[in-house]
Amino acid sequence: MSTLLSALQGTRPERLPVWFMRQAGRSLPEYREARQGTTILEACLRPELAAEITLQPVRRHDVDAAIFFSDIMTPLVIAGVDVDIRPGIGPVIEDPIRTAADVDALVAHELGDTSPITEAAQIVIRELGEQKPLIGFAGAPFTLAAYLVEGRGSRDHLAARSMMHSDPESWRRLLAWCADISGQFLAVQVDAGARAVQLFDSWAGSLSQADYVSSVAPHSAAALAAVEGRVPRIHFGVGTRHLLQDMAACGVEAMGVDYRTPLDEAAQLLPGLPLQGNIDPAMLSAGWGPLEAHARDVVGRGKAAPAHIVNLGHGVPPTTDPAVLTDLVALIHEL
Ligand code: CP3
Repeated sequence: MSTLLSALQGTRPERLPVWFMRQAGRSLPEYREARQGTTILEACLRPELAAEITLQPVRRHDVDAAIFFSDIMTPLVIAGVDVDIRPGIGPVIEDPIRTAADVDALVAHELGDTSPITEAAQIVIRELGEQKPLIGFAGAPFTLAAYLVEGRGSRDHLAARSMMHSDPESWRRLLAWCADISGQFLAVQVDAGARAVQLFDSWAGSLSQADYVSSVAPHSAAALAAVEGRVPRIHFGVGTRHLLQDMAACGVEAMGVDYRTPLDEAAQLLPGLPLQGNIDPAMLSAGWGPLEAHARDVVGRGKAAPAHIVNLGHGVPPTTDPAVLTDLVALIHEL
């Protein structure tokens, strides 16, 4: 069995598995070359190209898993929602969802033709073989809803968090729709052969624990339930130390931990769960000495968990020297 899947089952394989969030993408010259002349959302819907980009970091770095090249916005595009990803800005929604009528119009959309996703995943799996699984992913309902309500990225998600309380019924319908779309997107990837999934709730850290539990967690649980019993599920958020236990309770086989919470502390909060993380992305540009010391510390603390999948505490920054990532994988494999 692959080292990733052994670790996700809670056992410690001989070699520590390692992969990186955003391992595909702008840090790689071959990615910038392949992407020329296409927008990111176009690239996500061209099976040959999405498969090629997914495979690039596996070939280059010898990471132990591929993460499907797509975006958390892709299922919204497939559902016909008017969304764009602008370079340097991120997702932009032309008509943000602010009223009950906006929610009515949104929830009338159904997930459309997912065959480009299936085809891309199948090409990747054919090339990867058994030892390197493909990880599927989706955005969690809150992170998707935060973009839909705010219209673009935001620091504190005020409009989304206000709507949760000013119009709880619209909020509930919005989140239920996002959960349905995310769950279907996960299931499409698993149907095509993905061997694990990760739910990204990147912006959940801006929520109070009370709001998370009452108005968000049930929907994340619904999205994760779409693949329950089929593949191991990883749940990841940023700035979510206060939510780790509630995120785990959504129904997961492993938890992703950002770089702010040391893994031995996370292990105490989450007894019995395999942990993934949490090398600080800033350390990738801090020089090899500090990076190596930090990586050794992360691996040491990870021993407090039943199993550890080494990753970053958030995505690879676009300015990262890819050679540093290759060296880091080799170091982790030696430890
Ligand atoms: O390893 C991988 O690269 C997997 C593919 C992947 C992308 N986005 C490709 C992408 C994954 C897993 C995502 C998830 C995603 N997208 C998240 C959750 C993870 C996280 O980082 O918290 C979020 C919040 C998004 C939304 C999004 N898409 C943002 C904020 C941006 C950055 C905008 C910018 O240009 O600064 C994107 C664009 C995006 N998605 C890029 C990539 C490689 C960069 C744009 C490009 O290459 O043209």
